[in-house]
Amino acid sequence: MNDVATPAAPGRTWPDEGLTRIPYWVYTDEALRRQEQQRLYQGETWNYLCLEADLAQTGDYVSTFVGETPVVAVRAEDGELYAFENRCAHRGALIALENAGRTDQFTCVYHAWSYDLQGTLKGVAFEQGVAGKGGMPPGFDKPAHSPRKLRVATTCGLVFGSFSDDVPDLEDYIGEAVLGRIRRILGKGEIEVLGRFTQKLPNNWKLYFENVKDSYHASLLHLFLTTFDVNRLTQKGGLIVSEDGGNHVSYSMVIPDERHGSEYRDQGIRSENQDYTLHDTSFLQGTDEIGDGITLQILSVFPGFVLGQVWNSFVVRQVLPKGVDETELHWTYFGFREDTPEQRTARLKQLNLVGPAGLVSMEDGCVGGFVQRGIATAEDERAVVQMGGDATSSSDTRATEASVRGFWKAYRRHMGL
Ligand code: FES
Ligand SMILES: [Fe+2]
Repeated sequence: MNDVATPAAPGRTWPDEGLTRIPYWVYTDEALRRQEQQRLYQGETWNYLCLEADLAQTGDYVSTFVGETPVVAVRAEDGELYAFENRCAHRGALIALENAGRTDQFTCVYHAWSYDLQGTLKGVAFEQGVAGKGGMPPGFDKPAHSPRKLRVATTCGLVFGSFSDDVPDLEDYIGEAVLGRIRRILGKGEIEVLGRFTQKLPNNWKLYFENVKDSYHASLLHLFLTTFDVNRLTQKGGLIVSEDGGNHVSYSMVIPDERHGSEYRDQGIRSENQDYTLHDTSFLQGTDEIGDGITLQILSVFPGFVLGQVWNSFVVRQVLPKGVDETELHWTYFGFREDTPEQRTARLKQLNLVGPAGLVSMEDGCVGGFVQRGIATAEDERAVVQMGGDATSSSDTRATEASVRGFWKAYRRHMGL
C-alpha cells in the first residue's frame, strides 16, 4: 500500500525495543510530516469530516480538512453525501471559503470557475473568450479537471472521508468492539449540536492523539477527575484496543457513594487534593442515561477522531495537524433532539469539564506543549511506553499504555516505519 522504496523518514530508524520506545524525532521531523500527508491522510485511512446533522439539507456543506488537505463535504441534489478537495481546478484557490453554509453550486472567487454539489467542474468564465477571441482551447474537458474526490461513508450519524479506494469499509475499519461503543452513545437518538470550539495546540498532532489514548494519565494529570472521583484508576473500568491497534475505547464507572481508597494520597499524587470542594454539587449529579453504569468513555478512531462521554456530556473531537508543532482541535458538543429540558441543562453544565478551558480538558491542551518543549534537542532520545508490558491488547485495567502502543502499531504500519 505504501511506497516503501521511499523511506518515510530518511536517516531514521525505529528503536529495536519496538512499541515500548517512541523516538522523539517522530514529533519534530519535517520530512516525516510531509510523508504523513501521503501515507496516512491520503492513504488507507478513514478521516472524520463532520456530523450528518451538519449536512441535513440539500446544498448544506462543511469545509474541513483531511490531515492538512482542505476538503468540502456536502449533501447533493440526489440526497447523497459527497466530499472533494477544496482546491480550484484552475489555479488552486480554495473553492469554499466559509466553514459551513448552504448553496446550490460552488463558485471560486478568483476567476469564477464553478462546480456542482458533487465537486465536478461545470463552468469556466469566458470559456469561449470574447467576440471570438481568447478563451479556452476547444474541447477542454471540464469534468476531467475536477478536484480530487473522496470516498464518503457514514456510521451512527458520523461522516468520514477517504482518499483511498483500497481502505476497508468504514465499519470494518473501526471494528465491531469500538463500533459498539460508538453506537452506545450515538444510538440514543437524533443528534442536536449544542456548540463548537476550535482550539490551537502548540504541539505535534500525535502527542494529542496519544494523550487521548493514554488511560494512565487521566487521574494523575487531571486534578478535577481525581479529587471529585470522576475518574480514578482504582475505579471499575477497562480498555478496548482494536485488532490493528489504531482504534480504542477506555471507560470507567463511578459507583455512587463508594468511598475511594488512599492509593493516590499514599503516593503523594498531586491530582488528589481534598482542600478543594464544589459550591454547586449539582454539577456532578449525572444520571445513568445509557443504563450500563459507565460514567466516562473516551474513544478514538485512527488517525484523528475522538468521541468522549463524561457523565452526561458528549463531544466529538477532530484532531488536525497544522505543522510539525501545531495542531488544531475541533470540538462539537451535542445532545439529542428528544432531550428533556433537565437533560439539556445537565449537559450544558457538565460541558464545563471539557473543551479548551474545561475543568478537565484544559490540562490536555497543555501537556502536549510541555512535551514538545521538553524534547527540543532530544531527537535521538526515546520515550518509555512500558506500563502494562509491551502488549497492545484490551484489558480490564487502565493502568496500562496498551492503547498508546496500539496507536504506534497502526502508525508504523501505515507509514512503513
Ligand atoms: S483559481 Fe479558481 S477560478 Fe481561478
Ligand atoms: Fe486527559
